[in-house]
Amino acid sequence: MSALFQPLRLGGLELPNRITIAPMCQYSATEGCATDWHMIHLGGLALSGAGLLILEATAVSPEGRISPGDLGLYSDANEAALARVLAAIRAHSPIPLAVQLSHAGRKASSRAPWEGGTQIPPDAPAGWPTLAPSAMPHAEGEAPPEALDPEGLAKIRDDFVAAARRAARLGLDGIEIHAAHGYLLHQFLSPLANRRQDAYGGAPENRMRFPLEVFEAVRAVFPAERPVWVRVSATDWVEGGWDIEETVAFARALGERGCAAIHVSTGGVSPRQSIPLSPGYQVPFAARVKAETGLPTIAVGLITEPEQAEAILADGKADAVSLARAVLYDPRWPWHAAAKLGAQATAPKQYWRSQPREYKDLFSGAAHGQR
Ligand SMILES: Cc1cc2nc3c(=O)[nH]c(=O)nc-3n(C[C@H](O)[C@H](O)[C@H](O)COP(=O)(O)O)c2cc1C
Repeated sequence: MSALFQPLRLGGLELPNRITIAPMCQYSATEGCATDWHMIHLGGLALSGAGLLILEATAVSPEGRISPGDLGLYSDANEAALARVLAAIRAHSPIPLAVQLSHAGRKASSRAPWEGGTQIPPDAPAGWPTLAPSAMPHAEGEAPPEALDPEGLAKIRDDFVAAARRAARLGLDGIEIHAAHGYLLHQFLSPLANRRQDAYGGAPENRMRFPLEVFEAVRAVFPAERPVWVRVSATDWVEGGWDIEETVAFARALGERGCAAIHVSTGGVSPRQSIPLSPGYQVPFAARVKAETGLPTIAVGLITEPEQAEAILADGKADAVSLARAVLYDPRWPWHAAAKLGAQATAPKQYWRSQPREYKDLFSGAAHGQR
């Protein structure tokens, strides 16, 4: 029996298999509202047979967007636009759906990657002033963010709560809180971005305080049976930065507060990072978090082959894998993985006739006849 195709329980949510689709920004929203692109893109991924589809980083406020084209969940219009996309998906796919709630902090007000990805200055027409734990820019020469004061912190907590309430109303099955890749909550965690002198800076417990407050606030308003979990960067890949020991301590604190899983990525907080890329290069971090906290972990990063994913799970290094680029390149990755590993995949009935002759039982429930 393939480990990849075993169900996985995250809190009250059962995933039919352990392939998750990682959150992927599309930079294609209008004022935070999902567009036809999201209908096409998410609609396609919803037919993949994966066990979970995590919607892209979705901003809790306009100033929390990475780029002007980011998806948001901060207005009634945002909620209505996403409801339309989710209704279409729900009509045609049983895939569990989660949203990644995010605030970009000092990495907000950026151009889309295909426009260079650089900072849009706050005084440029499409740009805006950014907020962060400390008034230090992400990269030298960039306009610095404003350091958040107590009212600013309270507002961001409230923004996460309001977005979580909208996610609950939309019927989303889970929430992933984005505390990775150098965005706001990671900026609080990392000593490279957080130089605060108050209760939110300094010692690791202080740097974890705001992300934990946000987690608690979101967990409190999202229906108890639906999971809330966190995506972390397990290391900054910079000497003197946030590291795996602190990540384990953070994961433990999250676990005590009802966190259903840890999605373990790395990097993103500093241009000085040096990342040794290789297949599955972040898996050892997921394995550490899993071994030391007992929490379900999702491993991500250059996981591209079914046998590789299977081995990660069979060896007990993680409880699920998530794929980003590989699944954009091949949206039927879960079908092909099921074929290779001798398992069954979920496919829409409209596509059942595509089942290859050599995989007679590939699509669960597949049948067809004609006169
Ligand atoms: C197009 C694209 C958009 C991404 N957007 C997000 C995002 O919204 N949130 C996030 O946490 N990571 C984002 N990532 C990172 C991926 O989720 C993933 O962690 C990374 O690509 C490594 O996995 P991979 O090797 O399977 O691509 C994005 C990656 C890609 C390729």
